[in-house]
Amino acid sequence: TRIAAVIPAAGRGVRLGPGAPKALRTLNGTPMLIHAVRAMAASRAVSLVIVVAPPDGAAEVKSLLDAHALPERTDFMVVPGGDTRQESVKLGLDALPPEYGIVLVHDAARPLVPVDTVDAVIDAVREGAPAVVPALPLADTVKEVEPAATPGEPEPVVATPERARLRAVQTPQGFDRATLVHAHETVTDNVTDDASMVEQLGLGVVVVPGHEEAFKVTRPLDLVLAEAVLARRRL
Ligand code: C5P
Repeated sequence: TRIAAVIPAAGRGVRLGPGAPKALRTLNGTPMLIHAVRAMAASRAVSLVIVVAPPDGAAEVKSLLDAHALPERTDFMVVPGGDTRQESVKLGLDALPPEYGIVLVHDAARPLVPVDTVDAVIDAVREGAPAVVPALPLADTVKEVEPAATPGEPEPVVATPERARLRAVQTPQGFDRATLVHAHETVTDNVTDDASMVEQLGLGVVVVPGHEEAFKVTRPLDLVLAEAVLARRRL
């Protein structure tokens, strides 16, 4: 079966501060989205990348992809996104040709994921897992709180989950295509990761080791870190 990657890149990225949509911010001169597309195309197993663009920015994204050299073995498509990440992923899946039986979903906001992580996810799906998530142990202890009505107010702690059992999840997440499509048709809750929709179907989701460089570029400091990682790679 063939393998495609869907990259939801339709978010505005308000937490990064004012400016262009997050996926179009540049890292060392190249848009974050292009880094993310290259990270997927770096895997020899991936033969199609579908970018889900801001609804009013599909033409701009298409010309960006045309302007940047990408491997010849990889095809590209651009489709307009939706109001939520979930909707954007669904629109990407709708565009997927029938011969693709495995699909990766990768955030444009994780431009630096190494190819070995991408391949580890693919291998685990090929070995039969319906959903595979790269993830890392946590450095910080995590508290569950009763969220304050007003930001900045003290918040009562509800519980402290055992840190050793927690993982911070990354992307690309890998799926048996039929499973992910079924999850999108069945689960209507708003979720922050695709694998949790498959969990809600009661199917086995597994974690494989993620990578520090697969971090999500969310806040201004992350831009500094991402550019430092890129600079180090060029040495
Ligand atoms: O906002 P967050 O960082 O969780 O977004 C994760 C990814 O989902 C980003 O790549 C963003 O562009 C994408 N997204 C999307 N459509 C939306 C909202 C977010 O494709 N409506």
